[in-house]
Amino acid sequence: MTTTTLGLRPGGHKPGRVLLIGAGPGDPGLLTRRALSALKGADVVVYDRLVSPEIMDLVPEDVLQIDVGKAPGHHRLTQDETNALLVDLARRGLCVARLKGGDPLIFGRGGEEAAELKTAGVEFKYVPGITAAQGAAAATGVPLTHRGLAAGVRYVTGHRCQDAVLDHDWASLANADTTLVVYMGAMNIADIASKLIRHGMASSLPVMAVSAATTPRQTQVISDLGHIAEAVGQAVPEAPLLFVIGHVVSLSPTAAQTLAITAPETQAKAVRYG
Ligand SMILES: C[S@@+](CC[C@H](N)C(=O)[O-])C[C@H]1O[C@@H](n2cnc3c(N)ncnc32)[C@H](O)[C@@H]1O
Repeated sequence: MTTTTLGLRPGGHKPGRVLLIGAGPGDPGLLTRRALSALKGADVVVYDRLVSPEIMDLVPEDVLQIDVGKAPGHHRLTQDETNALLVDLARRGLCVARLKGGDPLIFGRGGEEAAELKTAGVEFKYVPGITAAQGAAAATGVPLTHRGLAAGVRYVTGHRCQDAVLDHDWASLANADTTLVVYMGAMNIADIASKLIRHGMASSLPVMAVSAATTPRQTQVISDLGHIAEAVGQAVPEAPLLFVIGHVVSLSPTAAQTLAITAPETQAKAVRYG
């Protein structure tokens, strides 16, 4: 956190406000023009761990930056503390850019922060961002829907608060006509894959794990539902990681050679692409 004394804005009885901004998946070229101008016009940027260093480089040096980033299990600020901070900064008359990875309204807790701001009587607005699934699709050349392969797409979480059991409707998710994108699934992918197989998905269904999509650190692992946990375990991709499960993965420019390999031990060696 950049330290400075936060006083009332000079001359300012003007009420502050908060912009809940999506930073996109990481590539600064994918930041919207509205997001960029909001960052340039802000007094303070309150940002998360998922916001890439390349995006933070675009924040002008004279804008205060507060890192409330949350590594799994190691919250720098709790959500309640972050909510209180946003309210406090806005009440000081500041224009606050609340910057989140991807889109603030897809697994981003943007709705929760907005509810707190509304209760506190603080003006706020959303600025959408490109969500990780969209960024990963474009960056890997894997469409999320495709005529004849996937008639729809579903985004689901692979993690519940406080490690509670993942209680999805597995029978409904195990539908190979719909692409499944799993956010925050790195710790539970073995369990997720086995539940989907138990509810009728073929273990040969292609799966792609994409890490740090759209950044220079992007890597991908392609396997099938029966082997994805093992393949990811061997490749150890860095966070953040998401999974695309479905026939569309066979359209990946790198999938053909990988999916042809069926022996698990060979497969695990063959699946990493930088
Ligand atoms: C708390 S969710 C936030 C999602 C974000 N609001 C969005 O719209 O992308 C964090 C998860 O998003 C996914 N994620 C975010 N950025 C990613 C990226 N660049 N590459 C791969 N996965 C990403 C990962 O599944 C990660 O665990």
